[in-house]
Amino acid sequence: MASLTVRQLDDAIKTRLRLRAAKSGRSVEDEVRVILREAANGPDAGVSSNSSGGPVEDAAPVRRPRSATKSKLPRVTLIIGGGIAAYKALDLIRRLKERGIHVRCVMTRAAQQFVTPLTASALAGERCYTDLFDPQSEFDAGHIRLARDTDLVVVAPATADLMAKMAQGHADDLATAILLATDKPILVAPAMNPLMWNNAATKRNAAQLARDGVSFIGPNAGEMAEANEAGVGRMSEPTEIAAFADTMLRPLNSRRLAGKKIMITAGPTHEPIDPVRYIANRSSGKQGYAIAEAAARAGADVVLISGPVDLDDPAGVQVVRVESARDMLAQVEKSLPSDIAIFAAAVADWRVANAGEQKIKKTQSGLPKLDLTENPDILATVSKLKQNRPKLVIGFAAETENLIANATAKLKRKGCDWIVANDVSPASGVMGGDRNTVHIISANETESWPVMSKDEVANALVKRIADAIGAKA
Ligand code: CTP
Repeated sequence: MASLTVRQLDDAIKTRLRLRAAKSGRSVEDEVRVILREAANGPDAGVSSNSSGGPVEDAAPVRRPRSATKSKLPRVTLIIGGGIAAYKALDLIRRLKERGIHVRCVMTRAAQQFVTPLTASALAGERCYTDLFDPQSEFDAGHIRLARDTDLVVVAPATADLMAKMAQGHADDLATAILLATDKPILVAPAMNPLMWNNAATKRNAAQLARDGVSFIGPNAGEMAEANEAGVGRMSEPTEIAAFADTMLRPLNSRRLAGKKIMITAGPTHEPIDPVRYIANRSSGKQGYAIAEAAARAGADVVLISGPVDLDDPAGVQVVRVESARDMLAQVEKSLPSDIAIFAAAVADWRVANAGEQKIKKTQSGLPKLDLTENPDILATVSKLKQNRPKLVIGFAAETENLIANATAKLKRKGCDWIVANDVSPASGVMGGDRNTVHIISANETESWPVMSKDEVANALVKRIADAIGAKA
């Protein structure tokens, strides 16, 4: 069955709430309080005393669910800023909870123009906090408790204004007061118009926040909510943010590759036809970049050799930008020795042998003749090295048919240790998309993974590498 969109879910929750409220004679808000109390205390609590309907006299303040503190679930305080991407924050609540993370939501005043605290409360199973001076809050000095009684603060979407306030240390509402008062790690998922993201003031604020130790995820490149606008500014997908938050919450796992050097290739290559034209492919580089970021979070010393892509440098990674397959090979060789090498780049198999020194002009004598010649195979070259061969060499296989058979043949032909095989047929939406379905093929086994976000694939691959090289958990 197709999964529900956030909007469908939102509508379904609201309809259900209205029906329940109409049946019990309570207001929708009181009905939510009853649900929250049931979540906290079990289904009987608070309802029997008022089973005849009518307002729930003692509905507020709602008690904090016991589950988070008792079961020691990792806890996230999710601050939802006021942007159109706020609707994605609702999906983020679900994604975090799927990972066994307890979520407590805080909304800015602007966020409430886009989504309601009621929906966030219903999804989180706990009231959503909105006011700095909230007489109903059970917490003494609420913002201090909300800031401390958590393991990670996630800001999604982080608007340009919220980032500016954070960078300046403002604390004039509940969200900013929590951000100023917290002593826990902060993860920011910016979302704004590309012009705002590229504005010098926003760049300054983002750089300042990074210096202050704030972690960033995204923004991604893509279509904007505004018609006909595209560029870097889209909030990362909820699955990506949840995966990143999960890794931040599990720091023990995340340092397993400390002391290891990893070289990764990513993106397409551009092979010149003449100074203004080139041959390329549809690779976005997202999977290779996600692996680089996951490996860096795992403590590895990462060199990312990247073809031309529209992605920001991953945090904590040394990025070397190249254009052609031959440039990429030269930089790969320069980066050796390395403990592990991962070849995620979609390297062009051919280049134009007779590339023009000047722009090729249209002439009377017919179409230009382009002679193709084969590019060096970077993966095969490194796999077959006699000296300095990395202990683990991982290739990718981008196939549009006979995935496993073709990828298994590629493993043998190229001489690498593992192949990560993925279906890149147009129907799969892998090229340029955010999700991926991969199979890990080695000499003795094939492991098929479920469909995951590219970040989840990256985290799982890094974990598998750490397991394979015996890195301590
Ligand atoms: N690769 C490489 N250098 C090349 C071509 C490919 O390093 N010149 C690497 C890719 O980074 C990937 C693996 O080899 O890890 C397989 O790439 P793919 O494009 O799937 O295979 P091809 O070598 O192009 O083989 P085929 O034409 O049969 O698909």
